[in-house]
Amino acid sequence: MTATRLGHPRPEPSFTIMVNGRPVEAWPGESIAAVLLAAGRRVFRQTAGHAPRGFFCGMGICFDCLITLNGVPNVRSCVTPAAPDCVVEAPE
Ligand code: FES
Repeated sequence: MTATRLGHPRPEPSFTIMVNGRPVEAWPGESIAAVLLAAGRRVFRQTAGHAPRGFFCGMGICFDCLITLNGVPNVRSCVTPAAPDCVVEAPE
């Protein structure tokens, strides 16, 4: 049986990325933002005034999807492919 992601068949095997210390399922070809959204996460960062920000433009323009990836801050999750070695930090 072929696994599905958001109703689309995914014949490739999945892998996990770590998000705030917890494993989250990801599939080859997905952006980190897609993985986070599919896991139910809507807040990716907070402004200096602690206002929540999340996925908005989806093409690397708005800066609302910034995360910390493998210790590097301010990475645009919408244009960064998920990989098995990804360690993501984002507000809870
Ligand atoms: S959602 Fe706008 S830069 Fe990623």
